Amino acid sequence: MVFNFYFEQVNEKLNFPGMLFKPSIKKHMANSKQQQGMKNAHLHDLFIDELRDILGAEKQLLKGLKKMASAASGESLKAAFEEHYAQTEEQINRLKGVFQSLGLLARSKKCKAMAGLLEEADEIMEDFEDDPALDAALIAAAQKVEHYEIASYGCLVTYAELMEHTEAMSLLEETLNEEKETDSKLTQIALSESNLATKK
Ligand SMILES: [Fe+2]
Repeated sequence: MVFNFYFEQVNEKLNFPGMLFKPSIKKHMANSKQQQGMKNAHLHDLFIDELRDILGAEKQLLKGLKKMASAASGESLKAAFEEHYAQTEEQINRLKGVFQSLGLLARSKKCKAMAGLLEEADEIMEDFEDDPALDAALIAAAQKVEHYEIASYGCLVTYAELMEHTEAMSLLEETLNEEKETDSKLTQIALSESNLATKK
């Protein structure tokens, strides 16, 4: 009785009025329903958590790409950032499709790693403003972001494959390939525009 009263208070605080279970028990019950017949069901919570993290990361990145595009001095770098902005919007929609394919609402959470990477990008834009190495610094910041995304989507593709979420897997794979292409495009720009070379 005392315990039930306690959990009632907790659940009310957590916005689960009327529930008489510990939040962890409630979570387990909800998951076991969703996971019936699912392969590698132990990965379910991790998969959803990582999906919410990358959805948050992509949304946060939109703001960062806008800043990087206006800071870039080379035309092709500016264009690459603008193109990746449009691509990121599509990737957000694709992620919504992933949630939909799983029968879940597309909820995001703040990605702390992306927040840190973008904070560093801000810092570098300030430190190298009017410096001939500004574009090289922007490319480095953007490639760090791409590598974070490649790692995240790579894991998500693997989880989706292990759990046999075929539709989610092919959507995530599409984005993973786009991130890899963006990364190598940034390397090409760095090499072709003499961004890393000494200016004459
Ligand atoms: Fe992305």
